[in-house]
Amino acid sequence: MAITPFTAPRPTEYAPIPKPLKRRTVKTEIPPGPRSPLLTLQFQKDTPGFLRSARDQFGDLTSFFLGGQLFYGAFAPEMVHEVTVSKQHSFIKGVGFERMRKVLGTGLLTNEEPIHLRHRRLMQSPFHISKISSYAETMLGLTEKHISNWQVGSEINLGPEMMSLTFDIVAEILFGTDISEDTERVQRSMHIAIDRIERTMLPGLDRMDNWPIPYFRKFHSAADDLNEVATKIIRNRIEQGIKRDDLLGILLEAQTPDGERLSAEEISDETLTLILSGHETTANVLTWVFSYLSENPQYWEGLIAEADQVLSHRGEEDFALKLFSAPISSAIFNEVLRLCPPVWVAPRRALEDVELGGRFVPKGAHVLVSQFVTHRDPRYFPNPDSFRPERWSDDFEKSLPKGAYFPFGAGTRKCLGDQFAILEGRVIILEIARRFRLELKSGFPKAQPRATYRPKGAVPMKVSVARS
Ligand code: HEM
Repeated sequence: MAITPFTAPRPTEYAPIPKPLKRRTVKTEIPPGPRSPLLTLQFQKDTPGFLRSARDQFGDLTSFFLGGQLFYGAFAPEMVHEVTVSKQHSFIKGVGFERMRKVLGTGLLTNEEPIHLRHRRLMQSPFHISKISSYAETMLGLTEKHISNWQVGSEINLGPEMMSLTFDIVAEILFGTDISEDTERVQRSMHIAIDRIERTMLPGLDRMDNWPIPYFRKFHSAADDLNEVATKIIRNRIEQGIKRDDLLGILLEAQTPDGERLSAEEISDETLTLILSGHETTANVLTWVFSYLSENPQYWEGLIAEADQVLSHRGEEDFALKLFSAPISSAIFNEVLRLCPPVWVAPRRALEDVELGGRFVPKGAHVLVSQFVTHRDPRYFPNPDSFRPERWSDDFEKSLPKGAYFPFGAGTRKCLGDQFAILEGRVIILEIARRFRLELKSGFPKAQPRATYRPKGAVPMKVSVARS
């Protein structure tokens, strides 16, 4: 039987996973935290809410047991900075990522050292800021094409609309290919995969993946399906025999300093990783953006004026620069990334004994830092639950301590596509605002936090004219 990401073993080059710490084997004192017998249920029902209330009740460093294993929640900016940057080498990626590897294989998101950095260096160039700027026209062209079907007075499902738009942008720019025929298939499988991945924040659940019951079977077949699409993209490119300097071209030509090439499986895994991480996250933020705008219509007018101004520079050399420095869409995007960070938790595992905020965390502990929790800390974000884009004016971001705001992560595991996503977000927000106004049809969407913090349902919106 062929080895697929679903069946592949953990690469032997990775550091061995340390033994989990069980209730009986923890020898050191641990910080206070929730100990309710219903804890697993509460955690599963609403994980971001659970973590936030743990921080509110027990402070910046808290502990709890899940599946019998010791977890820490580390929420102070200082601790976030230690986990993601200054002490990052004391950690590997934690719960959820082993399972994510079954879908994405050993791509950048799931890879561990030493393979991760080797690949990251190879994949850096299409994400260099000078290159990113050249993508603005393509992003705008695809946005125009997508929204040209929207009719004033009609209703659209914004969630799926944003998914297929961001999917097409990533496919076109990074892989130079029109895979719109696969959009639906990828989205269906992605949806299942993302849903099932996050459920395994509960350690040990992944042992059930081979159980012959539909829930787990569907996960397996979704993973295989995605792998097939990635393989097809690569096969098509090789058969076409065209050399391009997009990401796929780079991966196919890439050589490490010692002359080693990426294998077909590695290229396929990186392709899938980029398709997943490059579209679902941005699509979710944009769906939240227009949901907040619908509830806060006072921001439309400024946004339309900004759209008219910035988009009039289309075709000029500094178009991307104008987009990057557009203040209103920037503040709205930042505020939505704060309130609804698509990546809302970063699970890690301590490879050795380590101190966070001067407090001891033992080797083997699971450590969760959470964008959702830290971004709603009232010490840094007054009225943390309110949508207030104006808080981002002046040098607010620079005034924050390191680790207080980290929607794209930090350190060597920082998002590879942060500037790509920022530019894309700007283009889509402004082009939609220039043409239309969107209003929620059925109330502000509930969150459905899984591997990403996504809005529940299709988010139907009424389309009306941008300006009266
Ligand atoms: C608003 C949109 C996005 C957000 C909020 C976001 C957020 C993140 C975060 C927080 C991480 C680090 C995860 C961790 O530390 O465990 C990450 C990693 C990553 N992201 Fe993004 N991302 C976004 C869009 C994108 C886009 C558009 C791309 C590519 C086109 C991309 C590619 C990646 C990759 C490859 C990684 C793994 C990096 C590594 O470990 O070396 N992301 N992203």
